[in-house]
Amino acid sequence: MKILFLDQSGKLGGAELSLIDVAQPYRETCLVCLFSDGHFRELLEEKNIPVEVIATQPIKVSKESGIIESLKGFTSLFPLIVKIANIAANYDLIYANTQKALVVSAFASFFSRRPLVYHLRDILSPDHFSRTNRQVAVTLANQFASLVIANSQATQNAFIAAGGRKKITEFVYNGFNPEKYIASQDKITQIRQELGLNNKFIVGHFSRISPWKGQDILLEAIAKCPSDVTAIFVGDALFGEDDYVAYLHQQVDALNLQDRVKFLGFRSDIVPLMSACNLIAHTSTAPEPFGRVIVEAMLCGTPIVAAAAGGAIELVENEKTGWLFSPGNSQQLADIIMTCRDRKEQAKLIANRALIQARQRFDLNVTNQQIARLLAKCQLV
Ligand code: UDP
Ligand code: GLC
Repeated sequence: MKILFLDQSGKLGGAELSLIDVAQPYRETCLVCLFSDGHFRELLEEKNIPVEVIATQPIKVSKESGIIESLKGFTSLFPLIVKIANIAANYDLIYANTQKALVVSAFASFFSRRPLVYHLRDILSPDHFSRTNRQVAVTLANQFASLVIANSQATQNAFIAAGGRKKITEFVYNGFNPEKYIASQDKITQIRQELGLNNKFIVGHFSRISPWKGQDILLEAIAKCPSDVTAIFVGDALFGEDDYVAYLHQQVDALNLQDRVKFLGFRSDIVPLMSACNLIAHTSTAPEPFGRVIVEAMLCGTPIVAAAAGGAIELVENEKTGWLFSPGNSQQLADIIMTCRDRKEQAKLIANRALIQARQRFDLNVTNQQIARLLAKCQLV
């Protein structure tokens, strides 16, 4: 099957890292079109997945856009729609991986008469999107998509609650290759030495820096713990969240955490870094659609604590495969950090159970087969 994948971003977010895994089996015949250039393009090239950057102007529609702004954004998309419709004529199916890609793909699918699949990786709720943006996404998906693949049940439910057609949705979790999540003991020791946190209890936070990812909640929690509890923040502000970055640095000073907190920026060696941590904290304050970092922590064998909302609840079973805390509640998070620090055996047991379960539940071969079966069906429609 010849698939035309579309993604609005050139940056490496979870949606893009996941698309690499989805597109891999189709690399002989597919094309990934991006609406902007960046490391995502480089990584696709490294993996020999054909890629083309087809827009140079950034698309000016934000998650909070109102109707006027959205309409203006739409008219500016017209040349892109024509371009994609022409390219799509050489493919069997259009696969939109992000919301702006959906807008372009919906019309391109109409003009080129190619079926449209929308991989929905966002929770379409007021926490995340303006009413207009939710309506645009749902209307276009209902009208033009043969299939909406949600990345969790939470994402699927939010789509239906926002007016999405139940009949066209299925959920498929992100898949992972467990072999990629094994780090050597030497590398782990080296990383701990480089971090200069050798005898400390390290809590890792792996995420792009953004207010809803809740890095500030972890800082508050660390301040409530004794001084041997430290934190590393791995990830960059990918979408211009500079004010929040400045706020986090002020918070570090105000809480006197300068010696206990490190910001490492974007890293591609997340496996040894996660393995070097004693605990990984996921702290999103709005429901997380899926949360790749949660599964990755499990596959690295590191205990995970996650904010109990959205897809995270489907991934973690409290006190069985990790811990859950109420989103935004830094005291609860601090208590769980202390439990992990003080009861290492219990934490190890839980992490081992999570590792075994994650290998079964999120096997990339299985999730890719699920997607292949769904695509085959929708090609016949
Ligand atoms: N990640 C990375 N380097 C970093 C920070 C994050 O490679 O410095 C990866 C992380 O391992 C995960 C992805 O980025 O695979 C983030 O995906 P997730 O679903 O957790 O969140 P998103 O950013 O997509 O909302
Ligand atoms: C999006 C979501 C994230 C999810 C990822 C992969 O970026 O924010 O929760 O894990 O897509 O589906």
